[in-house]
Amino acid sequence: MNEHWDKKAQIIGLLDHTEFISGELIAQQVGLSRTAVNNHIAQLETYGVDIFSVKGKGYKLAKQLPIFDKSKLVNNIENRCFYFHEIESTNAFMLQHADELKNGDICIAEYQSAGRGRRGRQWVSPYGQHVYASLFWRLNQGMNAAMGLSLVVACSIVTSLKAFGVDGLGVKWPNDIYRDNKKLAGILIELSGHSIDECHLVIGFGINMSMSEQHAEQIDQPWSDLTSLNSMPDKTQLLTAIHKQLKVDLMQFEAEGMEPFIPQWQEYDLFYDKQINLLMAPNNVTGTCKGIDKQGAVLLEHNGVITSYIGGEISLRGSE
Ligand code: BTN
Repeated sequence: MNEHWDKKAQIIGLLDHTEFISGELIAQQVGLSRTAVNNHIAQLETYGVDIFSVKGKGYKLAKQLPIFDKSKLVNNIENRCFYFHEIESTNAFMLQHADELKNGDICIAEYQSAGRGRRGRQWVSPYGQHVYASLFWRLNQGMNAAMGLSLVVACSIVTSLKAFGVDGLGVKWPNDIYRDNKKLAGILIELSGHSIDECHLVIGFGINMSMSEQHAEQIDQPWSDLTSLNSMPDKTQLLTAIHKQLKVDLMQFEAEGMEPFIPQWQEYDLFYDKQINLLMAPNNVTGTCKGIDKQGAVLLEHNGVITSYIGGEISLRGSE
């Protein structure tokens, strides 16, 4: 599957977003015929790469395409790193190989043909434009701890993004990451198997780096990305930093539980002390958000009483 990607990656390496390059020159440089180059370019467009093609001038990227540096990733990440140009879903890959994986192993892709979001949604995953990754973790505390862990993952990603100068960040329970009050990143944790005292988790995350109009149309909620920053974080360095931070935080979580992360969550919490609705079909509850407890449940104050709510089927909405 990856053979045709060798040529496509070479072609992408030659394309620029400021100047045109002729098809002739690309063909010479990558050792292909003009027709083969045309075919690769046409296929790249089906993967979501936006390429201008002008007769007599050649080809130009519509905007910069921040793809990963595979060798830097593999060398700088201390665990096994599975890198793909194209995959169905990084989560699906890790679930399929869970038996052979160790804590911290990670799968990274440039394009997902069937990227998964929460609640059965699709995660729009055009080639090269964003971050799509899944980390494997074997959790010794069993399944009950998984909810808390998902909040820790959100904190780790926010901490890493902040270190790269990303501003306007916040979290929404249980694990959405927002920038300027619109969704920047999503986390999908899937279980590959569990016993009473151990569960195997695949922690998938997607971060919008540079959304194009074409792909934005497919997203059914307000979204944000990193294009308004003065300087875009380097994707390879960002992912390496997130991987490191996740490992440190997940190990701390295993040793000390959720407690050390509660102040951090509160600092990032977009709804702390605000009126919220918790949607739990068929019932909704309304109250003031009071952060989270040691289990990772969301705390809601209503008529002076604080109640905790936990469970994957609950959705939080602001109500002001
Ligand atoms: C959400 O709906 O908020 C969760 C989105 C999670 C998307 C990521 S992208 C990498 C990993 N692989 C998938 O198929 N989904 C997750």
